[in-house]
Amino acid sequence: MEKIFVQGREKLYGSVEISGMKNSALPIIFASVLVKGESIIENVPIVSDVHNSLKILSEMGADVKYEDLHTVRICTDNIGIEKINMGLVSKMRASSYLMGVLLARFGKVRIVYPGGCNFGHRPIDEHLKGFSQIGAECIEKNGFVEITTNKKLKSGEIILDKISVGATINMILASALTDGKTVIRNTAREPHVDDVIYYLNRCGTNIKRHNDVIIVYGSSSLYGARYRIFPDMIEALTYISCVGVTKGAIEIKNIRTSHLRSLLPLFEYMGMDIYSANKKAINVRSMIKLCGSHVRTMPYPGFPTDFHPQFSSLLCYTNGGGSVDETIFPGRFAYVNELKKMGGKLEKTDSKVFIMPSYLYGAEIDATDLRAGAGLVVASLGAEGESTVNNVGYILRGYEDMVGKLSSLGAIIKII
Ligand code: EPU
Repeated sequence: MEKIFVQGREKLYGSVEISGMKNSALPIIFASVLVKGESIIENVPIVSDVHNSLKILSEMGADVKYEDLHTVRICTDNIGIEKINMGLVSKMRASSYLMGVLLARFGKVRIVYPGGCNFGHRPIDEHLKGFSQIGAECIEKNGFVEITTNKKLKSGEIILDKISVGATINMILASALTDGKTVIRNTAREPHVDDVIYYLNRCGTNIKRHNDVIIVYGSSSLYGARYRIFPDMIEALTYISCVGVTKGAIEIKNIRTSHLRSLLPLFEYMGMDIYSANKKAINVRSMIKLCGSHVRTMPYPGFPTDFHPQFSSLLCYTNGGGSVDETIFPGRFAYVNELKKMGGKLEKTDSKVFIMPSYLYGAEIDATDLRAGAGLVVASLGAEGESTVNNVGYILRGYEDMVGKLSSLGAIIKII
């Protein structure tokens, strides 16, 4: 089993390039099922969730080729719905996008419940209620979800009860081949939702957003296109927290500063210097002990739940500490016990964690999910002594070459 070894307390200097956004790449890969001919997707991150999504499509009959390390050509003209790798579907949340695309293209889909990071129950009721509103029938039986439509899906109106990234994207995917206008209300505004919209518009749809309302003018004939995926804002935030705990000065390249605009003032408030020379890069300098802060996770543009564990690690190293109130995934706290093994002073109550200023030392700790694992790497970088992070597989699901990137910034870190 691979582990990450970290010798803490090395300052970080240099430049790091952010990879493409995992949570855009996955739905866009599945969206290629909706189009005829080849899609050429650029800036695809090298992470295991992408690999597994491509494997699911290949096994269904798609032609998948890499043009270079980060560019993948996908043609799904010959796919069928008989050979869906249910084992992989059950391990990944993003496989829920098969529901939207197969329903749109084949009028039916039967899959096991999509899996994903293990931080509690992750229902798909919003997805199913949405599909029903455009004419699908959804049956849940023996661990499988079966969605069918007698006739074509109808255009119309979908009102989501809850703001959900996955349900919003699935509604867009399901209505993309429907001639006519579908209005989707109460949608998520995360950049990855817009990334999917821009890809589909390149392929022939006309999808517009007005705040939280998305209007889809679908088309029954979409054609493959070349498209470049947005950079990963969560990866960028993770490197900001790394320099926050180690001190130093780094340049973060290949980002969209607009995606970070609600978070950068928080880091500045805490005591970091952030300078942006252009829209695609920032320089982050952290020289003094930071002050603490209290945050609450919210849908975009609020504080992202996917940055919660990394931020908790950062708070351990601040004057004053702070708290994280988790409103999206109340089960996302398994990292708390691991930080305590390092000397972290944290107190969890219901869906909130209070973090006191702590003196962290190296320890053997377990990544319990993707972002928890990243948070533990952040904590280890600032801790005194050696740490070993187990269950590296979680981190590889969503961070491209985290160890290589950190070591190029001067961290003493390796996979063992
Ligand atoms: N929800 C429901 N019913 C549903 C769907 C969602 O009650 O049918 C609830 C969830 O339980 C949660 C809230 O709605 O409380 C929001 O969940 P959302 O649907 O937005 O999450 P998701 O689509 O399952 C994606 C990302 C997550 C990220 C969330 C929130 C992918 C593959 N996953 O999940 O990413 O945390 O949006 O931004 O895109 C990660 O990258 O580490 C990760 C977990």
